[in-house]
Amino acid sequence: MDISVIVLAAGKGTRMLSDMPKVLHPIGGRPMLQRVIDTANQLSPKLVQVVCGFASEKLQAALSDQHIGWVEQSEQLGTAHAVLQAIPNCADDQRVIILYGDVPLISEATLTNLLNNVPNDGVGVVVTKLTNPTGFGRIIRDEQGHLVGIVEEKDADAKTKGICEVNTGIIVANAADLKRWLPAIKNDNRQQEYYLPDIIPMAVAENKPVHGVSACCSMEVMGVNNRVQQAELERYFQYQQALKLCEQGAHIYDPARFDLRNAKLTLGKDISFDINVILEGEVTLGNGCKIGANVHLRNVTLSDNVEIKANSIIEHANIESGAVVGPFARIRPGTTLKANAKVGNFVEVKNSTLGQGSKANHLTYLGDAEIHENVNIGAGTITCNYDGKNKSKTIIKNRVFVGSNTALVAPITIEEDATVAAGSTITEKVNARQLALARSKQVNIDNWIPPKDR
Ligand code: UD1
Ligand code: MG
Repeated sequence: MDISVIVLAAGKGTRMLSDMPKVLHPIGGRPMLQRVIDTANQLSPKLVQVVCGFASEKLQAALSDQHIGWVEQSEQLGTAHAVLQAIPNCADDQRVIILYGDVPLISEATLTNLLNNVPNDGVGVVVTKLTNPTGFGRIIRDEQGHLVGIVEEKDADAKTKGICEVNTGIIVANAADLKRWLPAIKNDNRQQEYYLPDIIPMAVAENKPVHGVSACCSMEVMGVNNRVQQAELERYFQYQQALKLCEQGAHIYDPARFDLRNAKLTLGKDISFDINVILEGEVTLGNGCKIGANVHLRNVTLSDNVEIKANSIIEHANIESGAVVGPFARIRPGTTLKANAKVGNFVEVKNSTLGQGSKANHLTYLGDAEIHENVNIGAGTITCNYDGKNKSKTIIKNRVFVGSNTALVAPITIEEDATVAAGSTITEKVNARQLALARSKQVNIDNWIPPKDR
């Protein structure tokens, strides 16, 4: 049977204390609603609808690239009312899966179990057992153990509150049945809401099979209502990702201090991650790479045996084999470090190439620079690439030696084997094998009496 997915996301999420709609808050760097839709799409549904209400323009703008049917629920009158808004768009012969936009980690495995373990004419509820079930709807079973109803916390008596098996909210049922049942649901309960779980007694009355299917694990059906729950799910999610990478051969010093955010990661063999590493975007790491503590990589490719030392930040860069970066280096977009190049502490490199074996080991800014092979950039070298309006290029050819505390005013070229003396401000081209000296001559004055002794 064709599958149709309805994601409930009309709630405001008041307890997040945020101007942003709750379901756009991220887990693992991706909006919660986006994660739910990604998982839904793995089931190849005919249709995915999102029921929105609060700040629906913001939701639609944030997910404008998705094939989603948006359905407005102007008043949030309950989960049954929410589904009722979307159900007319489902064909009668579709299996409808109801998901929540604020339950971001629901897995494809659980949903596949749900579909496989519930007969096509029946209703399936994803359930789980919790040591503290407070706030959840409780699962009511008859003497034979058949699922016959769900009672909300607010409507439950003391005995019912003692039940640990809960409704996760994720339900599958036939569109034709939902179209018949939903309009008949009443709101005569403590919250005066239209409860989706009230379809259960209707299904039972029609002798339809009703099955509870256990979630693969409880954490994946947890919802996010506040910042504490968001933080808890984030750590759970990150820990699971880290363990998966360990299983694939990565050496992660502490899986509890590792973050992979919305990343597409490709890893070689024997890669180590010290603590507090953050990876984002497309990250490709070759064999034997060592990533130090507190390193942040975003859209980065490292070839084999690259070492990134602690506290370095690298984005949109390409670093070739054997290169060493950091500690405390900042590599900005458009940078290529060729094989065995070295960038040391307090060095910033932007839109530049550092050739094979070249070094900038200390306290330097290299912007819009093309640096060829085996060049030595002394401590405190600055490429003056910006005149307030235009960016200009610095070209430094093979085996140039740039002395410390040098300003290279671009556009400028330093030809092969030239030397730039320390403390120079270079404004004109330096030819091959020349020594360029551009600093005022030293003056030593004899018998100088310091002011204090005058
Ligand atoms: C619901 C279930 C409860 C279950 C729990 C699991 C009902 C009546 N109760 O309770 O049995 O244990 O989820 O987390 O279904 N929403 C709308 N429109 C509405 C109401 C809700 O879109 O009119 C959305 C919310 O944004 C949210 C989801 O539906 O994403 C669930 O709503 P919520 O108010 O959190 O339901 P609970 O009271 O937690
Ligand atoms: Mg809830």
